[in-house]
Amino acid sequence: MRLMVTGGAGFIGSNFIRGFLARHPETQLINVDLLTYAGNRDNMEGFTSYPGYVFVQADINDREQLVKFFEQGLDGVINFAAESHVDRSIAEPHLFAQTNILGTLNLLTLAREYEVPKFIQISTDEVYGTLGPTGQFTEESPLAPNSPYAASKAGADLLARAFYITYGLPVVITRCSNNYGPYQFPEKLIPLVLINALKGEPVPLYGDGKQVRDWIHVADHCRAVEMILQQGKPGTVYNIGAENERTNLEVVRSILRILGKPESLIRFVADRPGHDRRYALAAGKIRRELGWEPEISFEQGLAETVAWYVEHQAWWEKIISGEYQSYYQRFYLPRLEGKE
Ligand code: NAD
Ligand code: TYD
Repeated sequence: MRLMVTGGAGFIGSNFIRGFLARHPETQLINVDLLTYAGNRDNMEGFTSYPGYVFVQADINDREQLVKFFEQGLDGVINFAAESHVDRSIAEPHLFAQTNILGTLNLLTLAREYEVPKFIQISTDEVYGTLGPTGQFTEESPLAPNSPYAASKAGADLLARAFYITYGLPVVITRCSNNYGPYQFPEKLIPLVLINALKGEPVPLYGDGKQVRDWIHVADHCRAVEMILQQGKPGTVYNIGAENERTNLEVVRSILRILGKPESLIRFVADRPGHDRRYALAAGKIRRELGWEPEISFEQGLAETVAWYVEHQAWWEKIISGEYQSYYQRFYLPRLEGKE
């Protein structure tokens, strides 16, 4: 099999490639990643030496750099590459449209031209918007994105759908809930809290901290994507979720408890504009149709993730002493100082 995976130096993409190549070491796998602030060569440790693995530093918008891989023939494209952080999307919506919408359009166009037999668009439950205290998003829920990030992902989903209907490109869209696990960039809630707590620094909670997210371990998400690559029905959407709803406050308290750190580290800070209150995902379709089940409970997964960050201090120290500083100055400190 010859597979193109985009965004494979990021959090989920690198976890996907590591697991996939361990199970299918004979794969010819082309990892296309621009290495933005979120892309990290250290995330690729452990899989660069597979004989069929190729890394290409390129923008998914860059047709010229990518076309030769399509010319050589591909059995599938899995598009993980994206700008992925909601707070950054509020500051830089154009960048999100450029990568998430136009970049996906470029890949869809190439896949159509070179008749790629499977295109998986990795989307998110955030395209459905926000929920009240009850109910879950299904694959039939209307798209009602609230952040520029979610809107850009919804735009990509609609283009992917249009390529299936108009041109017959065999596209499958996946919509997963909030992921956690190893190699996640420390701008996202769980690694940010973990690292701050390990350093004894304040842990910021937006608003009242009672927003609800539905958590899934990245390894369970990646196995679902692999099953969809093998058996997913073109032209359809699969929600991927593990039914682990927690308030942000509950998540933060659990992390502090595991680390033996005091709750006095928690700081309630200014809320995120347009902050979605609750996500909850119904994932019955992938369970029924493909037989996928999550294998990692939230409690076990969180404990393992905490242990991973404790054991991989060198990994995150390198990040927080580099590019992360600009995030810290631009997004983190103003919140903590109450300027936002
Ligand atoms: P991430 O930010 O950790 O990684 C994104 C990767 O894409 C990085 O390696 C980055 O260098 C690369 N990239 C960014 N712009 C690019 C471009 N123009 N061309 C090529 N590469 C580029 O993100 P993640 O958390 O791993 O998310 C991966 C995918 O999963 C995204 O599409 C995201 O929308 C989706 N998703 C994420 C979550 C989550 O909880 N993290 C949940 C559901 C869906
Ligand atoms: P995040 O990890 O950014 O994911 P998303 O916004 O895509 O769900 O945030 C998860 C939740 O945690 C979200 O409700 C925002 C909140 N949050 C905080 O309260 N403090 C923080 O420092 C961060 C990064 C997020």
